Amino acid sequence: MKNNPIEKRIIKLREQISVLREKYHVLNDPSTTDDVYDSLTRELRDLESKYPEYKETINSLDRVAGKVSDGFKKFTHASRMLSLNDAFGESDVLDWENRIKKILGNESNKLEYFCELKFDGLAVSLIYENGIFLSGATRGDGFVGEDITENLKMINSIPLKLKMPCPKYIEVRGEVVMSKSTWQKINKQNEKNGKTIFANTRNAAAGSLRQLDPNLVKERNLDFFAYDIAQIDGYNEPKSHNQKHDLLKNIGFVVDGHQSLSKDLLGVFSFIKDVEKIRPNFPYGTDGVVVCVNDNVLQDLLGVIGKAPRYAVAYKYPAEKATTIVLDITVNVGRTGVLTPLAHFKPTSVAGSTVSKATLHNIDQIERLDIRVGDTVVIQKAGDVIPEVVETLFNMRTGKEKKFTMPKHCPACNSDISKKDIFYYCTNKNCHAKNRRIMQHFVNAYEIYEIGPKILDRLKEEGLITDAADLFTLEQSDLSGLERFGEKSADNIIKSINTHKKIEFWRFIYALGILHVGEQTSRDLANHFKDLNKLMNASILEINNIENIGPVVANSIFEFFSKKENQLFIDKLFLNGVNIENIIKNNNNNFYEKNFVITGTLNTLTRDDAKKIILKNGGKVSGSISKNTSYALVGENPGSKYDEAIRLGVKILDETLFLKMASK
Ligand code: IVH
Repeated sequence: MKNNPIEKRIIKLREQISVLREKYHVLNDPSTTDDVYDSLTRELRDLESKYPEYKETINSLDRVAGKVSDGFKKFTHASRMLSLNDAFGESDVLDWENRIKKILGNESNKLEYFCELKFDGLAVSLIYENGIFLSGATRGDGFVGEDITENLKMINSIPLKLKMPCPKYIEVRGEVVMSKSTWQKINKQNEKNGKTIFANTRNAAAGSLRQLDPNLVKERNLDFFAYDIAQIDGYNEPKSHNQKHDLLKNIGFVVDGHQSLSKDLLGVFSFIKDVEKIRPNFPYGTDGVVVCVNDNVLQDLLGVIGKAPRYAVAYKYPAEKATTIVLDITVNVGRTGVLTPLAHFKPTSVAGSTVSKATLHNIDQIERLDIRVGDTVVIQKAGDVIPEVVETLFNMRTGKEKKFTMPKHCPACNSDISKKDIFYYCTNKNCHAKNRRIMQHFVNAYEIYEIGPKILDRLKEEGLITDAADLFTLEQSDLSGLERFGEKSADNIIKSINTHKKIEFWRFIYALGILHVGEQTSRDLANHFKDLNKLMNASILEINNIENIGPVVANSIFEFFSKKENQLFIDKLFLNGVNIENIIKNNNNNFYEKNFVITGTLNTLTRDDAKKIILKNGGKVSGSISKNTSYALVGENPGSKYDEAIRLGVKILDETLFLKMASK
């Protein structure tokens, strides 16, 4: 039976999960992130429920993580430290509400939901008697944790004495966290000294709390947020979670201010959306929102099942990393003729969308990660960025994986292939796959979104266009005459083509599809030359002298404009009515050629808005402060970039000043 691939996969998954679990919880050495662990666990759960015959008698997934490690005394919790059940997405929260409403029956009309941030740190329990901090411990398995009292005393936001009046006895629950900026600072130092690099703020906080020398803990600048009271005596007891928060604040704890109270899930969902926006710039790591039934009486009615309360749930934001299986690797021909390997995956959800493909860029990347067909890989999607493979899980290999080799001929036109550095190219100037990509790139650059790849193919097949410049000669009747082509969509396409005839200079350059010239380089070229003729006649040296443009790119640009066919194509664009917007007119002297760095949360603008304003006025945006930075645009809770700007004497702008500058 061991030959069954499903059973084999289940066994592999169990082995790998248990290795990761031990590394993470016992050895404090997270070699991989939670997302990967969660993703493998989800796959195992799915397989186990689909194939119950392979389920273990003792289910390793239900075991509570966290052994007591040597060095600290054991600490038996007076009341059990619970965990929370996860909800992935709104529908899980709706299911949860349905379950609790069933149990509460008529009482449901009293329901109120309290929402707060779910901090990504370490849960601890603190005991105070007569207002004095007595002892504190980690969660451990929920019943027994580690006594880390001396270390906790080194955290400034944990009061050693409570503000009066305070309860005679109180057991406070909360999270020990490390700010993102401290985490980065420590990693930088540790990198220099060859010490541990922490994968995230939580690992850094955990590693710091487990130091045996409290003085070392002090250096780590940990913080504490209080969020719950497990037991209380001798004071008017809070009647709801909300009141617990108020009491905690009143007796001297730091309670985070992002919270909401609502009668229904609409309020909950809107809080979740608000938090999603601030999360990237929030100074501490958060991985979700805790949604909790507010009223104590209702909480008691709902009770606890297993190790989690039924009255609360942890909404988790979509994972940015997940694991999947490489089903195939195919090769695409790009607009420059470059052959790009593309991985096809078992469809997997990452950062809220389903991913089934990712580019592997080039053969070097495949060899570096040693990706083979059949491998289990970690894929990543940060924000709305394109998915990519970041790691191969070699331990999941069965020996049946197949190595990938580049084809000897172009997969589209079968022509010969040439190799330059790490890239392979189709040598055929008229390769149809290549031309197709050139045109797709062109319409995207012109923002003619009404024309997708299918329509482009159709226009070519019908002989209406031979290259992208022909698009500008199309008329409504050309399109509406085509079979299965509606008048309305023909109309929309022609309108869009016409409105985009007038184009910003940088977009004009970008659309040409010059090898190595992306959006930023196009902007740099436009800002420098301001005039197409100057750009077309520039020497390699002059192009190379532009900041951020190296010799390879300069050479490619020079070569492009020296080719007769490209000059003819550009002439044809103008003949057909393309018109470059005069960008000099738009430039604002305050911004022109100035380097901006944005940090912190802005009040009225999103970062993208601010970036657009800067670029539109001829400025540049960069990710880090240097002596070349002209301005730092600083919002609330700025990161380490702010300190760096001050250190280097960079001019600081707040949002109001920035907007004033932009309106000049
Ligand atoms: S529990 C019952 N609140 O989540 C509702 N837990 O507790 C009382 N966590 O591993 C609140 N932030 O480390 C609660 N604001 C928060 C939290 C939080 C993080 C973690 C905690 C523990 C798990 C379950």
